[in-house]
Amino acid sequence: MVEIAVIGGDGIGPEVTRAGVRVLEAAAQGDSSLQLGFTEFPWGCEYYLEHGRMMPEDALEELATRDAILLGAVGWPTVPDHISLWGLLLPIRRGFDQYVNLRPARLLRGVKSPLAEPGDLDITVVRENTEGEYSDSGGRVYRGTPHEIAVQESIFTRRGVERIIRYAFEEAKSRRGLLVGATKSNGISITMPFFDEIFREVAEEHPEVEASLMHADALAARLVLNPERFDVVVGSNLFGDLLSEITAGIAGAIGIAPSANLNPEGTFPSLFEPIHGSAPDIAGQGSANPSGAIWAASLMLEHLGYPEAGSRILSALEDALASGTKTRDLGGNATTDEMTTAVIERLQR
Ligand code: IPM
Ligand code: MN
Repeated sequence: MVEIAVIGGDGIGPEVTRAGVRVLEAAAQGDSSLQLGFTEFPWGCEYYLEHGRMMPEDALEELATRDAILLGAVGWPTVPDHISLWGLLLPIRRGFDQYVNLRPARLLRGVKSPLAEPGDLDITVVRENTEGEYSDSGGRVYRGTPHEIAVQESIFTRRGVERIIRYAFEEAKSRRGLLVGATKSNGISITMPFFDEIFREVAEEHPEVEASLMHADALAARLVLNPERFDVVVGSNLFGDLLSEITAGIAGAIGIAPSANLNPEGTFPSLFEPIHGSAPDIAGQGSANPSGAIWAASLMLEHLGYPEAGSRILSALEDALASGTKTRDLGGNATTDEMTTAVIERLQR
């Protein structure tokens, strides 16, 4: 039995994880070797307002007994974002050493890119997920005075940089063999040359991969201008975040893109989520696009060793979109449930 923890979280989060669970259950019905058990955890901003914390003290111990985690979204206007995120999602990514954040973007059939000529857009961003610019090292001094200072240090460790770059080279090898490292060593003069140095070292070991470094600003423009030239992009926590939301955007919609937070060694469970946020403006209306959560569910099965079931889910999603079943964000009028049902019907065929 594969045990999955479900954390709906805030806003549209629970609506889209419900869709993800329905689709996973349907995928399991068509595969006798796949047995799934689900446990829901009611953590998030509501929990915070009641208990003063985003999740219980022993949350990670509880989650550690599961095989994978499906997460919806975190964040609600009544709780500052840095409190909610550093109280739930980020401690899980770090506590479970989910150092790879894998973010595939592909133009699915039936989805329109905002670009006039998107070509064969199929890009995977490999984002470092445990260190870099997302660090709680630093502080504020002389608070509330005109001399107030805020300092936040970026943390780049050789182990952290090397392992994400190695993962990206392997990812490129399993795809079209092209890898671009997102740097900014012209402006950020200490950590980024360090990143570049390690990238070049690892590149030497992989002559079969066509590897190059590109400054993240120029890369941002290139991704929009010539997306067909890219295969795998690797970047630090912040650059990977920004670049992967560009690739999600040019592939049609933030509502479709998934995000796999992987602990590749399998020492801890990995976490799968849509890229999008909690969207308070449309929460509770049943109109959220469940595609990101459904694609995340597909990545989850792939990671758990059920690649066939995972790809059945993605094909069913693509077929449903191609047939014109679309939520409001994609210009359609399907509800979350209707979109989910359309995917499930195709899985059952
Ligand atoms: C994401 C999100 C998070 C991140 C936020 C909510 C902290 O934007 O998963 O991309 O930046 O990692
Ligand atoms: Mn983001």
